[in-house]
Amino acid sequence: MRSIVSKIDTGSADFAANVAAYRSLIHTLNERMQFAIDGGKGRERSIQRHLGRGKEMVRDRIDLVIDVDTPFLELSTLSGFGQYDDAAPGGGIVTGIGVVQGVPYVFIANDATVKGGSLTPIAIKKHVRAQQIADENDLGVIYLVDSGGAFLPLQDEIFPDKDHFGGSFYRQARLSARGLPQLSVVLGGCTAGGAYVPALSDEVIMVEGIGRIFLGGPPIVKAALGEVIDPDDLGGAELHTHVSGVSDYMASNEREAYGRLREICETTNQRKVEDRQGWIDWTEPKPPAYPAEEIYGIISADDRIPWDSTEVIARLVDGSEFAAFKPEWGTSIVTGFARVWGHRVGVIANNGIIFPESALKAAHFIELCEQRRIPLLFLQNTTGYMVGRDSEAAGIAKHGAKMVAAVANATVPKYTVLIGGSYGAGNYGMCGRGFEPRFLFAWPNSRIATMAPNTAETVLSDIRLAGLKGAETTEEEIAAIKAEIRGQFETQSDPYHATSRLWDDGLIDPVHTRDALGLCLSLAARQDAPAPGPGIVYRM
Ligand code: COA
Repeated sequence: MRSIVSKIDTGSADFAANVAAYRSLIHTLNERMQFAIDGGKGRERSIQRHLGRGKEMVRDRIDLVIDVDTPFLELSTLSGFGQYDDAAPGGGIVTGIGVVQGVPYVFIANDATVKGGSLTPIAIKKHVRAQQIADENDLGVIYLVDSGGAFLPLQDEIFPDKDHFGGSFYRQARLSARGLPQLSVVLGGCTAGGAYVPALSDEVIMVEGIGRIFLGGPPIVKAALGEVIDPDDLGGAELHTHVSGVSDYMASNEREAYGRLREICETTNQRKVEDRQGWIDWTEPKPPAYPAEEIYGIISADDRIPWDSTEVIARLVDGSEFAAFKPEWGTSIVTGFARVWGHRVGVIANNGIIFPESALKAAHFIELCEQRRIPLLFLQNTTGYMVGRDSEAAGIAKHGAKMVAAVANATVPKYTVLIGGSYGAGNYGMCGRGFEPRFLFAWPNSRIATMAPNTAETVLSDIRLAGLKGAETTEEEIAAIKAEIRGQFETQSDPYHATSRLWDDGLIDPVHTRDALGLCLSLAARQDAPAPGPGIVYRM
């Protein structure tokens, strides 16, 4: 296969300026990640109290469970960022994918140092999203439970609706019925609804002295029955392992519990990471010919200056080898075949605006990959579909719709990375969240909104001013309206605003993207091939 020959001048002043600007974005990303790990209002006190009880921190717990020297792909670390008055970093829950006894599992672990591990609305969303990932990728789930249950001040945003707390139990029961192990270690409170997480699990381990399960905690029992009871007598490990049978094993400390969990994982009879089923064409991986760090210098610090996504592809795919499809036509979308960590993928990447031909080319390529059973990788950097008389006359609406329909109906696994702008229906055609990519990651330079702030400023201020027809409007008032609209769009298209709300599975450093995608593809490779779609390739 041909290799991409990079045209980037890594010695240029522009490259150096871009690198410097991007390094500052990475610095901010790392700072904010650290904040999710140990920051937040009043958190210091909670952490000290947690450690003082001899309990492990949530990420250390995961480390103690997974196989030595294997990575943990943490998802949506920055969920909740800037919300809840910054008192719930990470939403109070950690999710991700780790390997135990060679088998990949989804982890859902409460962080008891954040509001007692109670489930904020974003924590519920994250919990349910992790279960959806387990479902789509045929993964068992390990629950490390240490939670005060529903975050009561926001109970109406957590409790009743589809994909709220009930949805997490619905999914848990159905995952188990599909033969995907649901395993719990109880390391703290499991109160009320929270009690159903272990109760619905296939096997449960409780840690003596810290793990407790009860439908109503001591305060509720006192209020309802007038009984004053010690929490361990009401729902401790001893009671549930020796009397009620709610728990299957009791461990005297956390480490013993993780050892027992690993023993259980030896018996779950799941496919291991390397058990590729052969439907994804695979060969020995090789690194890209160009270092991933160069991506920092490719992405323009000035977002008005376009950059070539082919250069990004060269730094993500094996050997920088890329068989471009239809390279001379519809060039604002780059399509072609490559490998990521040995797995064959079809890559669709934007170079700005999507024109009618680009949309047709993308639809054609998606159908090719669907017919050939090749997973799709979307790299989004688009301001959306082309507007204007010429574009409308060329039928952009129907050509864009073909692309959107092809993406929606593709049955092969899809993966999306927001490497730049994700605006308007471009987000949809390029497999945004609504189109159910298996995983969606975003880079810290990305932006996501219906339209860019400068476009929104013009469109919305024109509408507002038209509405004020007849009324006197001063230059200052017009400027204030524009500034307000611009500010709103800038805030809402910020990648931290997006990741905080779980519009993605995490903001990641471009340098880590290839590894994250490789892991995600390896999950699909161990599954049976997805049921094929129609397999017809229309040349549109
Ligand atoms: N909703 C909202 N906040 C909760 C909460 C909940 N369900 N559970 C705990 N919190 C908060 C506490 O208010 C406290 O907040 P603060 O740090 O701002 O003061 C923080 O989490 C820690 O709780 P605390 O009780 O001090 O910690 P603990 O380690 O001694 O106990 C629990 C932890 C979970 C055992 C205990 O808080 C508890 O029993 N919570 C209520 C559980 C419940 O009845 N849930 C019903 C859900 S339907």
